[in-house]
This record gives sequence, structure tokens and C-alpha cells, in this order.
Amino acid sequence: MAAPDARALRQRLESLEAAGVLQIPRAAGHAGAPPLVQAVPAPALASATVEEGGRAAVLQVLAEQVMGCTQCAELASTRTQTVFGVGRVDARICFFGEAPGADEDASGEPFVGPAGQLLTKIIEACRLRREDVYILNVLKCRPPGNRTPLPDEVANCRGYFERQFQVIAPAYICCLGATAAKALLQTDESIGRLRKRWFTYGSAKVICTYHPSYLLRNPEAKRDVWDDMKAMMADMGVDL
Ligand code: URA
Repeated sequence: MAAPDARALRQRLESLEAAGVLQIPRAAGHAGAPPLVQAVPAPALASATVEEGGRAAVLQVLAEQVMGCTQCAELASTRTQTVFGVGRVDARICFFGEAPGADEDASGEPFVGPAGQLLTKIIEACRLRREDVYILNVLKCRPPGNRTPLPDEVANCRGYFERQFQVIAPAYICCLGATAAKALLQTDESIGRLRKRWFTYGSAKVICTYHPSYLLRNPEAKRDVWDDMKAMMADMGVDL
């Protein structure tokens, strides 16, 4: 039998779903050359967004659903645990990565390995703390050998990350690498081509930059990432 807290959370989720707050229509695809500012419709929110205190509860229920997810048979049978997301449930900025690696699979928290430590330094260089932002991945399970997520796996996880963005309602989303950009913006363009352009996802402004793992292999690209962070922070009114 469910514990009282879990039951209350489930009831709350059901009423939010009934109110349409958590309903997630698929984002539409895009054809032709992207305009300078490309808009991706996010799942529609009901007139009231999830109120402050409700966000943590809704995310907790969603995390429990993710824990029990077996949609991707291979990932579900090889993962140690799911890796949902971490940070402020009302963060202004979300950092959106690809998928957990070995360290994240072991700890249950995104971006804690070498790439994660670099991401934490990037966040701190923006005069923020890791706990001021929200960090999540496209996939919630580690792909074996850290292979690139398969299209079916991204499709299976889409409802989860879309709900996370819907509930957190960030002002900015920073896509880290091509897998995140492709999943969110439904584009096949490289990060090199997506950088220095603004996109939108629902009401969030979206910026794309190199993945921290890429920076570990190509440290010269750190300068580009720093330029991207300065552009995002300047847009928020913060000069770095
Ligand atoms: N790379 C990612 O994309 N996400 C993580 O959580 C860790 C490494």
C-alpha cells in the first residue's frame, strides 16, 4: 500500500492532469531552412502554471514514474538507477544534457563526473551556484558504453523532459551538445551552426553550446562556450 505522502502526491498529480496542467501534446516538426529565431511550441500549459509549492510535488511524482519506467528494455535492464534531474524547481535557467554516464548512473544525479565538474565550473563562472539552476538530460537512463541515444529512446523519454520543462517553466534553456538541441528543437544542425542564435521553446529562450564532454576533448572550444554563457547572462541583464 502507498505511503500517505505518496498517495497525496499522486492525488495532486491527478488533479493537475485533470486540469490540463500536465497534458503534453507533441511539439510540431519543422520543415525548410530555420529562421533566425526559431520557435518550437512547448506543450501547452493550462491557464494557471504549476504553482510554486506544487512544482516539487509534481516533479517528485514524475521522478517516481521515471524510476519505474521500462519503455527502453535495454536501458531499463542495464541501468543502476534512473537519473531524473537536480536543482531549483523554479530555476530561471535549465542546462539540458544528453544522458547519464557511469558516474551519474552510480550516483543518480546528472553531471557529477568529469564533464559535470566542468559544467559546475561553467555555472560558477556565470556567478551562479549549481543549486541555483536546474540540470537535466534528454535520457534518464545510461546508454550502455555511453553510446549516443537512439531515436526510439529519445522518443520514449520525450514526455518526461517535456514535463520537466513545463513544470519548471524556465526563462532560459541551454542545450549542451547536439543530442539535447536535436531533441528540443527538432533539428539536425550541428552545434557549430546552432550557436549564436536564439530559439524559443514555449516561453523559454533557448541557446545551444558545446557539451562539456566535448570541451574535455577540445579545450580550445571553452572560449566559445564562455562567449555563449556571456550572451545568455547578458540577455538576463548580467554582465560577466
Ligand atoms: N553527460 C551528459 O550529457 N549528462 C550527464 O549527466 C553526464 C554526462
